[in-house]
Amino acid sequence: CRVRHYKFNVVTRNTSRLCSSKPIVTVNGLFPGPTLYAREDDTVLVKVVNHVQYNLSIHWHGIRQLRTGWADGPAYITQCPIQPGQSYVYNFTITGQRGTLLWHAHILWLRATVHGGLVILPKRGVPYPFPAPHKEVVVILSEWWKSDVEAVINEALKSGSAPNVSDAHTINGHPGPVSSCSSQGGFTLHVESGKTYMLRIINAALNEEIFFKVAGHQLNVVEVDAIYTKPFKTNTILIAPGQTTNVLLTADRSTGKYMVTASPFMDTPIVAVDNMTATATIHYSGTLATSPTTLTNPPPQNSTPVASSFTNSLRSLNSKKFPANVPLTVDHSLLFTIGLGINPCATCANGSRVVAAINNVSFVMPTMALLQAHFFNISGVFTDDFPSNPPIAFNYTGTTQPSSFQTMNGTRLYRLAYNSTVELVLQDTGIIAPENHPIHLHGFNFFVVGRGLGNFNPKKDPKKFNFVDPIERNTIGVPSGGWTAIRFKADNPGVWFMHCHLEVHTTWGLKMAFVVDNGKGPNESLLPPPSDLPTC
Ligand code: C2O
Repeated sequence: CRVRHYKFNVVTRNTSRLCSSKPIVTVNGLFPGPTLYAREDDTVLVKVVNHVQYNLSIHWHGIRQLRTGWADGPAYITQCPIQPGQSYVYNFTITGQRGTLLWHAHILWLRATVHGGLVILPKRGVPYPFPAPHKEVVVILSEWWKSDVEAVINEALKSGSAPNVSDAHTINGHPGPVSSCSSQGGFTLHVESGKTYMLRIINAALNEEIFFKVAGHQLNVVEVDAIYTKPFKTNTILIAPGQTTNVLLTADRSTGKYMVTASPFMDTPIVAVDNMTATATIHYSGTLATSPTTLTNPPPQNSTPVASSFTNSLRSLNSKKFPANVPLTVDHSLLFTIGLGINPCATCANGSRVVAAINNVSFVMPTMALLQAHFFNISGVFTDDFPSNPPIAFNYTGTTQPSSFQTMNGTRLYRLAYNSTVELVLQDTGIIAPENHPIHLHGFNFFVVGRGLGNFNPKKDPKKFNFVDPIERNTIGVPSGGWTAIRFKADNPGVWFMHCHLEVHTTWGLKMAFVVDNGKGPNESLLPPPSDLPTC
């Protein structure tokens, strides 16, 4: 293993898409940002220098950050933001992880343009548990706004209503030729017939789950969220913001051009129906540029069966080398309702505003980092009384329920002893906007032991849990009007954020944090903060 040094200069760069150009915040002038490469067990040092007028922080999404929460990145959770003109070195070791992850800004909506791939190769000499691909390609799915993204959210917060959706989806930064502006080409992957390619697909979008499809080819799923899966073939993959999926694509045609699509998924579209599909092209060598492209139709936006069938097909590889170590006992049995609601708001344009909550608590961001408050025992920053169950018994009927309407505000955390085990059932309330919520937990991977529609039944449903080969990941879509059960072991001391990875819902309060206490020895404790940790 070695130490890898990276420098991220955060700068504004004029960038043009959809036939117009605007200044955007970037890392090193790139959209999407640079891919960071490392190997399992490497130590990574990224010096982030803030040359823009916004406070910022960068999160290494899915990196466990064992005992190094100071490098995790969410602003006001594990660090104060890096202020304009300042810098911070993120210093972490990649322990026992290999695969595709992503990095992104973790403050307000800056991640719309400040994001990139994070590729962790296996240790030297250690093969993949599948035949080595001829070539590996990072494929980043994202969005493009014609207007300034920070202005979009600030406007929405002021009026108390939903923000605008993006103007286009993108594949490696480009909407592709099929869009409202056709003069810019899209991303092209050149392939040779007979060879196999590994696509490292990343959803870096702010607010949309995405279907990904390739005309005339099947995708063999081999990894999600940097965890090997039992390989399975599918025509369409579903990928939520924050998730990653590695697929093997065998170029089993002799020649031709084939369309790739990235299109939105939402079970019940209630915002302006967003049909913007980004496209890219697979181009076989020897094919003329003028030859026609084989097209494909993306699934309709509300294709819930396509989404569920993909999600239900995922299993951990669970081999000897990569066992699924599901916690079999539970110290903390938690039920969290997640959803949207409407609260009165005197200063809002229409007298009320959309809020989002977990167990009726709409999370209030502190003004100093929670991890600092925890480490230095500073009182008055947070409380550790986050409810383990919904304060109002929840009953999902598909119609409006009171439970998510009256939310309380608070910076409330849930405390876990070191190495305790957690079973957490996430129950969507389906109120206001029935939507699949991709919930991301920092600092851990978790096993997805169960999933269902309607109310979680604590007597019946656990009998069907999978403790053998459940998928392990860091971000999971909780089905609209349904539930997902996860298990994890609290083996990482620190303060760990958990939130919906649809940025609009995070903004509205769909977030909380766990505080995990130190264990006994020095090796079970959070390390002290680095000397250049930003101050608030
Ligand atoms: Cu990828 Cu807290 O985020």
